[in-house]
Amino acid sequence: MILVTGATGFIGSHLMCRLAQKDIFPVALFRYESNKNRVRGLFEAQFSDAEKRFEKIIWRKADFRDFSSLNSAFEGITKVYHCAGYISLAHKDANKLLEINEKGSAYLVDLCLTYRIEKLVYVSSIAAMGNDPTTAIIDENTPWDNNSDKTPYAYSKYGGEIEVWRGIQEGLNAVIVNPGIVLGTDSPIAKILDRYKKGLRWFTPGSNGYVGIKDVIEVMDQLMNSKINGERFILVSENWTGKAIAQQMLRVGNRNKGVICIPKGLLYLLWVLEHLLQALGLRKRFLTRAMISSQFEKKEIDGKKIKSFIDFEYTPIEGMLC
Ligand SMILES: NC(=O)c1ccc[n+]([C@@H]2O[C@H](COP(=O)([O-])OP(=O)(O)OC[C@H]3O[C@@H](n4cnc5c(N)ncnc54)[C@H](OP(=O)(O)O)[C@@H]3O)[C@@H](O)[C@H]2O)c1
Repeated sequence: MILVTGATGFIGSHLMCRLAQKDIFPVALFRYESNKNRVRGLFEAQFSDAEKRFEKIIWRKADFRDFSSLNSAFEGITKVYHCAGYISLAHKDANKLLEINEKGSAYLVDLCLTYRIEKLVYVSSIAAMGNDPTTAIIDENTPWDNNSDKTPYAYSKYGGEIEVWRGIQEGLNAVIVNPGIVLGTDSPIAKILDRYKKGLRWFTPGSNGYVGIKDVIEVMDQLMNSKINGERFILVSENWTGKAIAQQMLRVGNRNKGVICIPKGLLYLLWVLEHLLQALGLRKRFLTRAMISSQFEKKEIDGKKIKSFIDFEYTPIEGMLC
């Protein structure tokens, strides 16, 4: 039996749809009853017999901050897609990020080993990649660098990945995917893209790697059903600068406005102000130096390794920016 963690999330719910298309109804983890509606909504958009299919899902309640709830979720499981995770770039969320993304993954890996799971497909992130200042291209071999500034999110995803590598050393059959920013219906980035469509003109000039949700799910499915083991794969279709994204979305929204670059100095001023407010006990800070500098970096993230392992071509990004 397959287990999908994070089944109620963006990536997890699309994976649930893909599995349902193949008449596979896995054990799906949830925390809140209402969040199951995300999966129901996607099923309704895709299947004429949506409710019948939805009812075949075996829902189990579990939380990555409550390890005992995870033990019972593993009963009868042979394969695992680990899509659960907490996404936040805020400094104030550092502890929560480490708890869910790193410690939670460590416990999941232990359970996979205990239950002799046949295969684990683990969703990491490009945030867990190294960022060697001497190279303009980042790929799966770029070494992690503790010295450069990183967000708490990056540390938590890297920490989670390290736990999977530890599991692999201990005999676990696992593969890791490192998606860039994932585009698709209801994606975490959709709200920001929508703001551009409605006329937001401000951008930061750095670049980012983007990939479509269908591509991510296709790769995860193929990897689960392959003999590939002990590999990590960056999933990035194309690299776009913040300026190009802003211009494209304004075009899509029929807004004939020029775009304006946010000065780095302004963000550092806000960063200092936030430190002051935190010192006065008024609010916890959000911005980190790492977050600011990453918005100004123009690195290319190379996602082509996966194409030499499975039969797969990326979907171009422009059609998804609509
Ligand atoms: N979206 C992207 O662009 C992107 C890019 C690269 C990597 N990723 C990685 O992909 C994974 C999934 O991302 P997503 O976009 O699907 O995020 P999402 O929409 O926020 O979904 C996160 C999922 O994780 C679950 N979750 C969060 N905290 C949990 C906890 N303490 N215990 C159990 N489940 C918990 C959520 O459950 P609830 O419904 O109960 O909140 C939800 O199902 C994350 O690990 C993220 O780092 C995402």
